[in-house]
Amino acid sequence: MPPLSRRQFVTRSVTTVAGSALIGRTSAAPMPPMADLSDSAPLIISTWPFGKPANESALACLKRGGSGLDAIEEGIRLTESDPTNPSVGLAGIPNSEGVVQLDACIMSGPGHRAGGVAALEGFAHPISVARRVMESTPHVLLVGEGARAFAAKNGFERGPKVSPGQKKAWKAWVQQQAEAKRKTDNHDTIAMVALLPDGNVFGGCSTSGRGYKLPGRVGDSPIIGSGLYVDNEVGAAGATGLGENVMRYCGSFLVVEFMRQGLHPQEACIETIRRIARLDPLGFDLAINFIALDKKGRYGAAGTGQGFEYSVTSERSSRVLQSPGLTAKNVGPVGGNVTK
Ligand code: GLY
Repeated sequence: MPPLSRRQFVTRSVTTVAGSALIGRTSAAPMPPMADLSDSAPLIISTWPFGKPANESALACLKRGGSGLDAIEEGIRLTESDPTNPSVGLAGIPNSEGVVQLDACIMSGPGHRAGGVAALEGFAHPISVARRVMESTPHVLLVGEGARAFAAKNGFERGPKVSPGQKKAWKAWVQQQAEAKRKTDNHDTIAMVALLPDGNVFGGCSTSGRGYKLPGRVGDSPIIGSGLYVDNEVGAAGATGLGENVMRYCGSFLVVEFMRQGLHPQEACIETIRRIARLDPLGFDLAINFIALDKKGRYGAAGTGQGFEYSVTSERSSRVLQSPGLTAKNVGPVGGNVTK
């Protein structure tokens, strides 16, 4: 058996709270009222409980005088280094050939700059390679062998093509070759967005992608506008979940555009999921989740099904919160107004 994703350890139930959007209850703190979903900068939001230590590392970097990009990179590198994380970094679940292919991107509000790598093999920190693509090439995205050659030429830290534990799990998977295995819920991602005291916004995203994917498959995470989008006039958003269901809708871009229209980040995440569910033949059965933050320090998240846990860190506190979860039953007619 491959290592379970953290999500599989989490016990959840969904509870309706009078007068609010549906709120899931888990081991994480329940969602505070939406009016409380704000804090002062520096403010860092990321996906999943494993984002909390990453946020804290990013905050420590800022306190040492690091830039917004330094903070995003340092925070995400922590998650990429976690040997127990099966969905980010080289300990991630490999592709169907038994090789881990990593995807990442980074984006700076100032200058609207972006860089990414996709299907990168054998390097420990795709977020750092993505930053180098942004800062030292005229390009936004390098993939596969080109990304690998770029990382090698620039002396980035190397790593195994697959961890010993994941190789064993992959061999078992090859033996089974079961279609059900292909559908394993194993595509958690770290997306991180940050608002600095000077009002500038930054973001990053990193993942090993969908477990046992076809070689060369690229998900939403390194694609600007899908797994991450930063707009220095508005705010930033990031995604985790089944990349194919995010990238067909430019999910993070859509969240930011809803914020631009005036929605609170939480409403923007909810409305994005509702828009996607309205168009998609699968309805809400999409396994997609968003985080968002705006220039006012307001933040929020939402996911399909029972929602997901996300991490929020400021100088005041560092917490894991439960996002609202959206299903056909709990958001009313698809395409209707946001339920508050
Ligand atoms: N969201 C990660 C992936 O689907 O690759």
